[in-house]
Amino acid sequence: MGWIVMGYLSGSWLAALSVCRLAGLGDPRQHGSLNPGFSNVLRLYGPRLAAATLLLDALKAMPAVLGAKLIGYPVWLQGLVGLAVLLGHSFPLWHGFRGGKAVSSAFGVLLVLVPQVALLSAAVWALLAWWLRTAALASLVSALVAPLACGWLAPEYVMVVGGFSLLVLARHGLNIRRLRRGDEPPFRGS
Ligand code: G3P
Repeated sequence: MGWIVMGYLSGSWLAALSVCRLAGLGDPRQHGSLNPGFSNVLRLYGPRLAAATLLLDALKAMPAVLGAKLIGYPVWLQGLVGLAVLLGHSFPLWHGFRGGKAVSSAFGVLLVLVPQVALLSAAVWALLAWWLRTAALASLVSALVAPLACGWLAPEYVMVVGGFSLLVLARHGLNIRRLRRGDEPPFRGS
């Protein structure tokens, strides 16, 4: 139980808010896509702050799942700890339950649980984001790729990673509606 609580609380810290505040810039939840995450920070404030956001959101996701894995929790319980991290990021205790879409934190969780799947999904994300210039589409496809890749590389984690993907997909409801209307903002110039 302790690792689940730790996962939720660490996930509840939103790197984008601290990074932007430290740089003396506005809350990314008030501008651009309104998402406190890597893509919106890139869109609003450029690559250096975006890279810091991605790195910190991925790092914060790791200690709780690493602890759960190292002490030998079964896979389903490791999955619950990972889910707690993603729920913390999505509905953060420290920030009025207004959180992000959990893509960078899912990357951190996957890096600990199934690093080969994390790297493959990240490569798919980077390729699609570069090609299509649309972060949400890259995230949606990567979220679908992750459980499929698990079936191939780490079958015991398929259900767990599928659960993470469902949460990430659910957090992109607004993006999906905008993609269907054709007015999803690109990385820049939104
Ligand atoms: O990482 C979140 C991404 O998938 C979408 O972000 O800001 O374009 O809504 P955004």
